[in-house]
Amino acid sequence: MSKDLSNYRKSYERQELLESNCPENPIELFQIWFLNADSSNLVDESNAMTISAIGLDGFPKNRVVLLKKYSPDGFIFYTNYNSEKGNAIANNNNICLSFFWAGLEQQIIIKGKAEKLAENLSDDYFKSRPDGSRLGAWASNQSVVVSSRKELDENLSSFEKKFEGKEILRPKHWGGYLVKPFSIEFWQGRPNRMHDRIRYSLQKDFSWKIERLAP
Ligand SMILES: Cc1cc2nc3c(=O)[nH]c(=O)nc-3n(C[C@H](O)[C@H](O)[C@H](O)COP(=O)(O)O)c2cc1C
Repeated sequence: MSKDLSNYRKSYERQELLESNCPENPIELFQIWFLNADSSNLVDESNAMTISAIGLDGFPKNRVVLLKKYSPDGFIFYTNYNSEKGNAIANNNNICLSFFWAGLEQQIIIKGKAEKLAENLSDDYFKSRPDGSRLGAWASNQSVVVSSRKELDENLSSFEKKFEGKEILRPKHWGGYLVKPFSIEFWQGRPNRMHDRIRYSLQKDFSWKIERLAP
């Protein structure tokens, strides 16, 4: 079985990214790009991002999670702290986030340090989730090998019974991470593979250095 993809090729022609359009703070540019992606019918799940961390086995691993908030402080996502990624981050909190919005020919790559979110903020977000998602956080030991789908469904049923008529509180092993960025790269596809790449790097005085990278 094989398929030759060698002539799969697309010319990127939608937009350019020039230094003259780069604000001093990359979160401002992130907001401009994100709001555009979010309102575009060319982008589905604009807040889906890939996060990569170095696992306990020494290998990087990527997986998709949902960005739930961004601000000048950083980028927030929620997960199970005991998952493979949770253990990876506990061991090495240098992580990388990336967005690829194919329809807009844009990529954003963020390097930063992940820190557990304050408990009250994770509580507030957990309370905003539908009951089913809250129960799922109790019923799934994320990343653990399970014997069957049946085991998962039975776990869910047992937590449904346990919490019947009661408030479904946040399990301590579930919560948010705030990723504090120190490097944010914006990539805009351009014709002839001469793409625009602008990287912001955080400086000691908390200003951001703006550099263009070769494509
Ligand atoms: C579109 C999409 C959104 C997802 N959002 C989340 C999320 O917000 N949090 C999460 O823990 N997993 C999310 N997942 C599942 C993760 O990709 C991953 O399977 C899970 O977190 C277990 O990862 P790990 O075993 O590497 O820790 C999402 C997957 C997809 C495809």
